Amino acid sequence: MKIFITREIPSPGIELLKKKGYQVSVYNKDKPIPRKDFINEVKNCDAVISLLTEKIDKEIIDKMKYCKVIANYAVGYNNIDFEYAQRKGIVVTNTPDVLTDSTADLAMSLVLACARRIPEAEALVRARKFKGWKPQLFLGMELRNKNFGILGAGRIGTEVAKRAHAFGCKIIYYSDIKNNFLETKLKAKRLSLNLILKQSDIISIHLPLNKKTYNLLNETNLRFLKKSSIIVNTARGEIVDEKVLIYMLKTKKIFAAGLDVYEDEPNIKKEFYNLDNVILLPHIGSSTTEARNNMSLLAAKNVIAVLSGKKAITPV
Ligand SMILES: NC(=O)c1ccc[n+]([C@@H]2O[C@H](COP(=O)([O-])OP(=O)(O)OC[C@H]3O[C@@H](n4cnc5c(N)ncnc54)[C@H](O)[C@@H]3O)[C@@H](O)[C@H]2O)c1
Repeated sequence: MKIFITREIPSPGIELLKKKGYQVSVYNKDKPIPRKDFINEVKNCDAVISLLTEKIDKEIIDKMKYCKVIANYAVGYNNIDFEYAQRKGIVVTNTPDVLTDSTADLAMSLVLACARRIPEAEALVRARKFKGWKPQLFLGMELRNKNFGILGAGRIGTEVAKRAHAFGCKIIYYSDIKNNFLETKLKAKRLSLNLILKQSDIISIHLPLNKKTYNLLNETNLRFLKKSSIIVNTARGEIVDEKVLIYMLKTKKIFAAGLDVYEDEPNIKKEFYNLDNVILLPHIGSSTTEARNNMSLLAAKNVIAVLSGKKAITPV
């Protein structure tokens, strides 16, 4: 059976597939596969391991004549028309849990980097402009006793809440489902989105991207943010209206933003580059050796399960 992988991923999953006797072919250029090449590849394969850079829409799915499973190498699956795939009898899987700690660590790094203005301070030193200790050099913000708003209290949101709690923050959260762990163990309060935006000193976004969350943070509600607040997005860029965010940063209506994801990746709105109160990362939430190796293994195990007639381990 043929498995097509849309980019070189860490070896554990590829080795496992080969060991099981599958024929594995990998698009081996260090860029997203051109659409016409992707269409050619998917025509004859039994399974696809895809990345979030591949848009798998109706046109692509219709070409998948033999494909039984699309194993997305990510927990988010907004790049796949999964309802259509399911209608066509193709199982779609993702890689939850194995990247939760890595992404939560990165969200927390962005919070701390924003709060303590680390990139700005580091740039000053590198520019050979450090002239000695000053009483008001890069005044930042402490985390203790701050209201920490989690948007989307699922796997990653819960881990970020635990980390923030350890720093002395008070946890408030917005989620469509009550999170018993947060409420009992961290004394967190579940509030409406508007109240979270009004009360938070720090906001960290961990919602999935879908029709309901597209531009959920927009002109109407972002104005509720405190002038001293920090907003961090390691979920998906489209959840925040970036034009409004840029305006808020430019006019100092918030303190800072930390972004790992963007509306139109890899294109980043040029206004962001000129702002010193935003930290811009290149979508590296799950980029640790541990997470990426385990994502590779989990994607492969999902493929093996479906192709051997068993239930997928982590279907979406
Ligand atoms: N930056 C990165 O590299 C990176 C890495 C991993 C995940 N992510 C993103 O993080 C997202 C969250 O991952 P997760 O594993 O925590 O997912 P999850 O499904 O465990 O958590 C999402 C939470 O949001 C809640 N939710 C969903 N829709 C909602 C809505 N409309 N209103 C309120 N709450 C809603 C769900 O109930 C759930 O608790 C992923 O979908 C992915 O896009 C990004």
